[in-house]
Amino acid sequence: MNAMPPDGLDAAPADAPADAAIAREAARRRTFAIIAHPDAGKTTLTERLLLRGGAIQLAGAVRAKGNARRTRSDWMKIEQDRGISVATSVMTFERGGLVFNLLDTPGHEDFSEDTYRTLTAVDAAVMVLDAAKGIEAQTRKLFEVCRLRNIPIITFINKMDREARDPFELIDEIEKTLALDAAPVAWPVGRASEFAGTWDMLNRRFLPVDADDAHSVALDGLDDPRLDALVGPERAAALREEAPLAEAACPEFDAEAFREGHLTPVFFGSALRDFGIGHLLDGLARHAPPPHARAADPRKVAPGEDRLTGFVFKVQANMDPNHRDRVAFVRLCSGKLVKGMRLKQVRTGKQVPVNAPLFFFAKERQVAEEAWPGDVVGVANHGTLRIGDTLTEGEELNFRGVPSFAPEILRTVRLEDPMGAKKLRTALGQLAEEGVVQLFRPLDGSPPVVGVVGQLQLDVLQSRLRVEYGVPAGFDTSMWTVARWVAPAVADAEGRAALERFAAANRRDAGEDHDGALVAFFTSDWRRNRAEEEWPMLRFHAVREQH
Ligand code: G4P
Repeated sequence: MNAMPPDGLDAAPADAPADAAIAREAARRRTFAIIAHPDAGKTTLTERLLLRGGAIQLAGAVRAKGNARRTRSDWMKIEQDRGISVATSVMTFERGGLVFNLLDTPGHEDFSEDTYRTLTAVDAAVMVLDAAKGIEAQTRKLFEVCRLRNIPIITFINKMDREARDPFELIDEIEKTLALDAAPVAWPVGRASEFAGTWDMLNRRFLPVDADDAHSVALDGLDDPRLDALVGPERAAALREEAPLAEAACPEFDAEAFREGHLTPVFFGSALRDFGIGHLLDGLARHAPPPHARAADPRKVAPGEDRLTGFVFKVQANMDPNHRDRVAFVRLCSGKLVKGMRLKQVRTGKQVPVNAPLFFFAKERQVAEEAWPGDVVGVANHGTLRIGDTLTEGEELNFRGVPSFAPEILRTVRLEDPMGAKKLRTALGQLAEEGVVQLFRPLDGSPPVVGVVGQLQLDVLQSRLRVEYGVPAGFDTSMWTVARWVAPAVADAEGRAALERFAAANRRDAGEDHDGALVAFFTSDWRRNRAEEEWPMLRFHAVREQH
């Protein structure tokens, strides 16, 4: 297995000393997320993967609907009420000498922003499709985010134990709807209740339903008579017809095209019945890339460098109801983290002590003695660390690309108790830093505006304001429906002057976001278009990359 990407990008730059032990540990990491439309089977697959990796004792431990998770999540009453998982967590397991970091993402589309941010911290994604449904709306959205970042995607077609669509049709749909080459690396043998296992197209072996590498049956090609004995003559005949057709009609698996995000290997199985999971895990181990060199200002950072770098992609407050702590989830990009280190928060220049970095398992958190590139650790802090922050051992360096997306719903905040104005301001500020909502302060001093992607985010905000901060608040419909970040087309003196003129002319329809960046509000897309025409020196962005 070639663990390092082929292009040699991961060699540390000449001026950044490399360390062999760090490079070795980085090469062992597979940091990934699962993307899926709700109900496709993401939770079930997560459980299966963790079980295979020995990370949890019982299937069901990661299920938000189940009791194990519920006790931990009591603080978020809303999660209980709705039976959805709001918080993102990280699960780590070891298998075959590799360390898998699975970054969990919320299942509900209203929290998709959380998912988008989490995708900035992974090196690969598993896309789960329901075999009866194919590509669904949320699959497509999440896929687009992966494509923006060239994240390699492994496809798992789930629920093959039930009536499913024709595999050729599903592959064709992936290619057409996502404009992505799809190479079947497994082919289903039998369908629905007759599903007997998969044919490994790359290694010409048969994997019975519950087998992995260790239990596969190597055959002398499809004509091997043992195939008939293994799966029965009918299923063998169907496979002999379909597999060559699939080879001829579909692109061949190409590791480089996969790592560049142009091609997806396709696996078939059933998470519920534990079919094909071992094969998928083998595929992840073999094909998913280890941490790679990451773009930053002013230079690229290679994982094998001896100095630590990382960035915050998520902040979660009040994870422990007894302590009002905030945990920043830091993705390590280079170097080695050792308990007790002090790291520089590049945005402010402050030193942040990392006395008890946390690893997260399905149910537990545990203090990490050390962590390596690709790992995600939780750093407890009192609000110092924000989403998008870069941490280093002293270097002035900023990772690019933890995005904010223009909200789709805007609401003004109505305070139910006028005495609580100050408390509300603090609470909103903290929740905005955590990324629960986006917060905008209109330039003319009118009440703050919150922006969200989905209604559920507002429910969570309202519940947390009441339960955690003791400030009851409501939301009023805003006349604005569109928000855009405004920036000069060219960042020169003229561009900056245009930005100032825009702000002065639109004090009632513009505000600042939590980082002080200018945001324009519009009552319709038509108005936004007009503004774009009227202000050719400015750009109106739907996505803002935080630094
Ligand atoms: P999600 O996280 O993507 O939303 O999906 P989840 O795993 O919760 O699965 C959604 C439903 O699909 C669940 O059924 C689950 O049992 C079922 N499922 C998942 N994988 C498979 C599979 O391979 N085959 C079949 N037949 N079903 C599968 P549910 O009835 O909604 O929930 P539950 O009562 O089983 O918990």
